[in-house]
Amino acid sequence: MKQKGLKMPIIFNAAFRQFHLLNNKISYIMHIMENGQLEHLYFGKCVCPEADFSYLAERGHRDMQACPLPDQPYFSPEHIRQEYPCFGYGDMRMPAFEIERENGSRVVDFKYVGHRIYHGKKPLDPLPGVYCEPGDDVETLEITLTDEQIHTDIILYYTIFESAAALIRHAEFSCHGEERISVETAMSFGLDLPDMDYEMIDLAGSWSRERHIRRHSLDYGIQSVYSLRGSCSSHQFNPFIALARRDTGENSGEVIGMSLLYSGDFLAQAEVDNFGVTRVTMGIHPQEFSWTLYSGEKFVTPEAVIVYSDKGIGEMSSTYHWLYRNRLARGMWRDRERPILINNWEATYFSFNEESLLKIARKAADIGIELFVLDDGWFGHRNDSKSSLGDWYVNKEKLQGGLKGFAEKINSLGMGFGIWIEPEMVSEDSDLYRKHPDWVLGDKRRILSKARNQYVLDFSRPEVVDEVYRQLADTFRGLPITYIKWDHNRSMSEVFSAGGNREYQGTVRHRFILGMYSLYAKMTAAFPDILFESCASGGARFDPGMLYYAPQAWCSDNTDAIERIRIQYGTSLVYPLSSIGSHVSAVPNEQIKRITPLRTRAAVAYFGTFGYEQDLTKASEEELAEMKLQISFMKKYRNLIQKGTFCRLISPFEKDGNIAAWEVISEDGKEVLAAYFRILQKPEAPYTRLRLAGLEEKETYLCQEVNNCCEADAEAEKIYRSGSELMNIGLIMSDESSGCKGVAAQVQGDFLARMFLLKKQSPDAE
Ligand code: DGJ
Repeated sequence: MKQKGLKMPIIFNAAFRQFHLLNNKISYIMHIMENGQLEHLYFGKCVCPEADFSYLAERGHRDMQACPLPDQPYFSPEHIRQEYPCFGYGDMRMPAFEIERENGSRVVDFKYVGHRIYHGKKPLDPLPGVYCEPGDDVETLEITLTDEQIHTDIILYYTIFESAAALIRHAEFSCHGEERISVETAMSFGLDLPDMDYEMIDLAGSWSRERHIRRHSLDYGIQSVYSLRGSCSSHQFNPFIALARRDTGENSGEVIGMSLLYSGDFLAQAEVDNFGVTRVTMGIHPQEFSWTLYSGEKFVTPEAVIVYSDKGIGEMSSTYHWLYRNRLARGMWRDRERPILINNWEATYFSFNEESLLKIARKAADIGIELFVLDDGWFGHRNDSKSSLGDWYVNKEKLQGGLKGFAEKINSLGMGFGIWIEPEMVSEDSDLYRKHPDWVLGDKRRILSKARNQYVLDFSRPEVVDEVYRQLADTFRGLPITYIKWDHNRSMSEVFSAGGNREYQGTVRHRFILGMYSLYAKMTAAFPDILFESCASGGARFDPGMLYYAPQAWCSDNTDAIERIRIQYGTSLVYPLSSIGSHVSAVPNEQIKRITPLRTRAAVAYFGTFGYEQDLTKASEEELAEMKLQISFMKKYRNLIQKGTFCRLISPFEKDGNIAAWEVISEDGKEVLAAYFRILQKPEAPYTRLRLAGLEEKETYLCQEVNNCCEADAEAEKIYRSGSELMNIGLIMSDESSGCKGVAAQVQGDFLARMFLLKKQSPDAE
């Protein structure tokens, strides 16, 4: 609904002091109140811009009101939908920010003093941020609020893309007075919605069970997800929540997604007050956070991306996928097809030498693998998890020819060479620790917990980051490395920095994240051709902050195909397939000992970056031949998979969870690749159908099953169906278990995967 004659997607209505940010999908409306503060009026589907929206500022009598305006008895901050709520000024709900003055007072009064609207978007340095490219129609609004008593400004930032149903927000605090202030809470945004008729969706789990979809009704009080692990956004919760109407599904209904571009402590919470108003706040977790500002200093919060869809959760995901793939991920690899890799971790763990690795590499090269990744254990004298983190030089007992010699041998097999690092950690048994014991993060007057036998380095200190960078750059410079897997394998505990005073301690956890981002910035600048994959004991840092530096992330240490269906399905709520690290591993599976068919393992792993993680010298000739076909298949379809539109079709989190399905539609809409998974074959099973999505109703599609999930060109039955049939009736999936005789054995049994390729094509085209 583009408005006629509308040039700017951000309008300031001076007569009524209202801001209206809109494109043809969304509207976001707020105004400046009588007391100079901001009131939120509306966020949702786009509405016409001409009107005065004052009627949305509902006022009335409520009991026990605290009214700061003497002549306006109904002006009660607690009953007003605030734009960026503060504490201590009559609003008794959870605030978006808190500031403490030198005398301990937390009463603040930030009033509007001005605003700027401009084309484009400023970088958020030193934090990750969505960016725009020349030709993008993007507008930014900056609203400045000032508290004159404490000489402090808050600038609220809002960016809107003409073509995306998304609003990008963050806040900046700056101090100009003699008096220092202490920012105790600084959320990236607040959003007050007028009702509570929502279900909250979040992504929760644990190590090896990351990002399972949870959905529950909002209730009075606070519901939240968070990380207090310091250095990662966590396996337990992802920095994302969505509020969906009760009847919202994949393809219909309203949903608001909220995603934080941050990789450390975060809090995302929805508070429902006694009038059913829902307040969402999201940002750095205030626990352990305290940031003192002296005159001339500022604090910038991480950015949040708020997405609206009135066409279901699928469209919300598509908006995130587009933004995160094209305007958050950067660098040479952003738009490139991802190389098919072999990783040696599950094949060898720490026990390898040059020859054992080369045996795997030769097999890998034979079947068409493009990249060999050397995982943990190549440096210092690391033969288990007890030593050498911090000593980033090669172990010549394992690799006699050094990294260069080994990388050249891999290259001579026709493959690229990639390597593993864990730069933020240190082992007690390491030269780095022996030289700089005070560089460990932690209060050394107490027992420091080890986790995985290691300590966290104090990355809040630039000299620590610089030394790790120096080592990595010295070791890797001039080597033919095309890929780096950047791991992180423990949370913070007993946090204390020997490098700072009392005030500094409240900043350490955030400074650590800034230090880690700065190392990423240095490494990506020094090695611009390298593809970075982030990792944190599997998927503990699968967040948009990381995607800014590393366009792909290891999704989970759990490589079992059935567990991965759920993990990747949940991950896809926010993150594009091009970012989802996915490998085919051996059976019985290392993590849960399940035995699944090779075709099913590949069918799940295709829908990500794709690779293998197993000892190929142990694979049979038959298996290697099948893998070779899988690799050719992926090479042919990875462009479609990694750049197409992903649609979830059947959820493994609903009903009994026995069936899951998804599809990807190519960028030009001409081809569709669908995958259907049935976990257990049931006796006397119900009839099942696979209904597709996102097709053109009147177009005819040629549908063919992908033989053994890897041979798209094999002779297969040709079925022509209209888009409307495929979306409303679907493909028949019933087999012998539901009484349908004559179904091929390969599409029966437990842990079943089937894949279908659809092409927009009528029978006459043959
Ligand atoms: C945890 C990662 O998730 C694994 O893939 C592997 O790289 C190990 N760390 C190595 O220590």
